[in-house]
Amino acid sequence: MTQPSIGLIGLGVMGANLALNIAEKGFDIGVANRTAETTRRFHAGAGELARRITPCASIPELVAALTPPRTIIIMVKAGAPVDAQIAELRPHLSPGDAIVDAGNANFHDTLRRDASFQGSGLNFIGMGVSGGEEGARHGPSIMAGGPEDAYARIARVLEAISATYQGAPCCAWVGPDGAGHFVKMIHNGIEYADMQMIAEVYGLLRDGVGMAASEIADVFAAWNTGPLNSYLIEITAGVLAVGDEKSGKPLVDVIQDRAGQKGTGRWSVMEAQSLGVPATTIEAAVAARALSSLRDERARAAAVYGAQQPPRLELDRSVLIGRLEAGLYAGKIAAYAQGFAVLEAASAEHQWNLPLATIARIWRAGCIIRSQFLDRIAAAFEATGGKGNLLLAPDFVAEMTNAHPALRSIVALAAATASPAPALSSALAYFDAYRQARGTANLIQAQRDFFGAHGFERIGEVGDHHGPWGAAS
Ligand code: 6PG
Repeated sequence: MTQPSIGLIGLGVMGANLALNIAEKGFDIGVANRTAETTRRFHAGAGELARRITPCASIPELVAALTPPRTIIIMVKAGAPVDAQIAELRPHLSPGDAIVDAGNANFHDTLRRDASFQGSGLNFIGMGVSGGEEGARHGPSIMAGGPEDAYARIARVLEAISATYQGAPCCAWVGPDGAGHFVKMIHNGIEYADMQMIAEVYGLLRDGVGMAASEIADVFAAWNTGPLNSYLIEITAGVLAVGDEKSGKPLVDVIQDRAGQKGTGRWSVMEAQSLGVPATTIEAAVAARALSSLRDERARAAAVYGAQQPPRLELDRSVLIGRLEAGLYAGKIAAYAQGFAVLEAASAEHQWNLPLATIARIWRAGCIIRSQFLDRIAAAFEATGGKGNLLLAPDFVAEMTNAHPALRSIVALAAATASPAPALSSALAYFDAYRQARGTANLIQAQRDFFGAHGFERIGEVGDHHGPWGAAS
């Protein structure tokens, strides 16, 4: 074993698996953890990879064990623990060394941390890593942001440990300072939308059609062989097929219907709002989780308003399943269009020059939203130069033209059967509003001018106009 130049701090689930992945790909690595006992146990349990791993009992010991220029990955809980870790590490580093924050940081924190490293000779890389425990161990999707030359020095390692799609590594430098964590945040926002729309379709099949979990599992398994093919559809089929030994029921039927969230979905919505970009399907997904957590209130409201209306299904089951598949696909196009529109706006705002086609490419494998669909998005952005809404990319115009009638039909069905479908409904409303050349904001402008003299533009004329509203009041 040579003296490593890569270190990793934080041997929780993600950090431990990332360290094993790095060692397995043939790179020597030093590791440390807040508690030295965890480090010792990790090393003892690393099997034949242990020879590539140098366990260090403290931060000074870790830094001393690494050859400069060092790259030290920190994988600790986002927020204050990252600042504390940087503060502890920084005095021991030398010019040219780099700290890589591989957690789910808020990109505002990454901007602040990056600024604090300017002129210090040290580098700070904010790196989004997606794929959960399995991805960290065998190949995540990696979205790096920060100084490009510092990234270039470790690109070989990161590309080696990342997932691959048809041989291409799902790893890229996406831009300076907070770009990597911003891209990861939007990945998670899209993840929320994807999951929520899948859950809404599950709701229609469970409550509208009355299908058992195992039957719904078969539907998702079949969809996974078509245009919806993706990790989230695959695991949905798997999850729905699992039984619960204790109750004898499908496990999913005994899980409380309250979804948690750690923040990245909510941050996506907040950033979309502050950039003025409509991301309504992601918003609906975040809000749906919040509503799901109001379990007791929902139970009271159910008692007050009574049971939901019985389904009025005039459709043959296979016709309905076909519409759900196409409608879910249309909703997915709208959600991804929104996510990428937020990325495009943030890129302009922060002068990141985000490579949208590359981002779609590195999401094709390794990450939670991985799918073949992202290969089509990458191709579409390559054709458009990564500019403009996905809904205007010629391939997606054709796909959406085919799929939106099905989305309309399932949203109508959801409304008619009182089956909540906020994300699918918002995807449809987004599409309908986006493609409406003459909308209704003329009335909003008139109202604003009426009560606040905010002014309006007149069709075909320049300048600010006001109405003679006095006559109307
Ligand atoms: C990933 C996941 C990962 C994590 C999310 C879940 O890309 O690997 O997105 O980052 O599972 O943070 O977020 P919630 O707990 O907010 O659902």
